[in-house]
Amino acid sequence: MCKVCSVNKVPLTGSSRRPNADNTPYFEKRQRLDPPSHATASSALNWAPPPSRLPHQAVAAPSTPALSCLDPFGPSRHISTPHQGQTVPKSFNSLQVYAGDHLSRQMVELFEACQQQSIDLERKEVFRARLQEDIQSIFSVARLYLTGSSMNGLGCRSSDADLCLVITGNKKPDPVSVLSRLRKLFRKLSYVEGTCLIRAKVPILKFKEKGSDLEFDLNINNTVGIRNTFLLRSYAHADPRVRPMILVVKKWACHHQINDASKGTLSSYTLVLMVLHYLQSLFSSYACFSLQDCFSPCMEIDMVPEGSTHVPPYISRNQSSLGELLLGFLRYYASEFSWDKRVISVREATAFPKTYAQEWRKKFICVEEPFERNNVARAVHEKLKFDAIKAQFVQSSMKLQARRDLNSILPLRAIINKEALRR
Ligand code: UTP
Ligand code: MG
Repeated sequence: MCKVCSVNKVPLTGSSRRPNADNTPYFEKRQRLDPPSHATASSALNWAPPPSRLPHQAVAAPSTPALSCLDPFGPSRHISTPHQGQTVPKSFNSLQVYAGDHLSRQMVELFEACQQQSIDLERKEVFRARLQEDIQSIFSVARLYLTGSSMNGLGCRSSDADLCLVITGNKKPDPVSVLSRLRKLFRKLSYVEGTCLIRAKVPILKFKEKGSDLEFDLNINNTVGIRNTFLLRSYAHADPRVRPMILVVKKWACHHQINDASKGTLSSYTLVLMVLHYLQSLFSSYACFSLQDCFSPCMEIDMVPEGSTHVPPYISRNQSSLGELLLGFLRYYASEFSWDKRVISVREATAFPKTYAQEWRKKFICVEEPFERNNVARAVHEKLKFDAIKAQFVQSSMKLQARRDLNSILPLRAIINKEALRR
């Protein structure tokens, strides 16, 4: 495998990227839409480059990393309490620009109260490093990576920690037998409890940090999760409205019990892609806003975080407030999106027509995984669940439209109080 394919030039493996309407290469087109000259002092505040490294991905430093290396963008800090001399991210400051109305202010309030903090990530990272050391006693070449919302900038204080154990070698290990061995090992570890093996399509081991509410999901060699974590992380930091939008949508979906793939509804990952698709379709200069080319699938895993450094500055011409975005998101899926005819593709920054491919045929909701191109919404296989999801979009859209108050679609105070009790 190549170390880093020259990111913009190497075509995606097996790629059949739809050409842009005028066949202009993506980056060229973006530059045309958003020339550097637009990056005036004030508009530049709208964008901050996402972090490029995981603290634990320093190849030669598998032990506990210097936690002070934690970047200022991943674990978010309260605007009022910047610490360790670090400045508040500019992207965070500029969020206020989009929160002039009551609904938007409520969204910011929820975001500030619930977003993952540095201390949460530090705790996960310490646990990861300790666990990696213990795992290496039986799988000496194994490396453990934190993925999912803990790392992609879209986490809450209460989010679980997703882990990917990468075991390289000539022979592809069987995930279930590796997880069975790990389960035995974990039972002997003083800091782990509640280990449970789930034999799903991607088998996982669930467990908790002893004596706390911190939950972990560990998979074996599902490296696409590392790639898409950094892809999402780049989108999350492309515009200051993305993270609060996604957090509010996750809380909304959770409250209405449509955010649980194990119960036939939407995974958080699916919801995130749905929000990104809506934003791509809305922001005029997002029309060709796909960051896929910065994350070539032939990049070695340790180089994936570097992909973020190839993301060009993005400044949206769309100036909608957070509240307007939320209303638009609900309305889009309540009445505009053709569930039966379209496949949501963040990779292509569009919703392309459903084909008869196995992946999309007879599926209620089709959301393409940006790297593997399978359907991440396949868990929604019951008509009843699909109807419940659509009904939530319709009802919430109507309620929010009428009242313009976040409390009309979720219990704001109760969620904030619950989150405050965590950790
Ligand atoms: P989750 O759905 O748990 O998302 O998937 P999350 O972002 O961690 O959300 P919360 O905060 O726990 O609710 C975790 C990760 O698993 C991978 C993605 O990397 C995702 O970020 N994943 C999940 C896939 O690759 N494919 C899927 O279909 C689902
Ligand atoms: Mg998670």
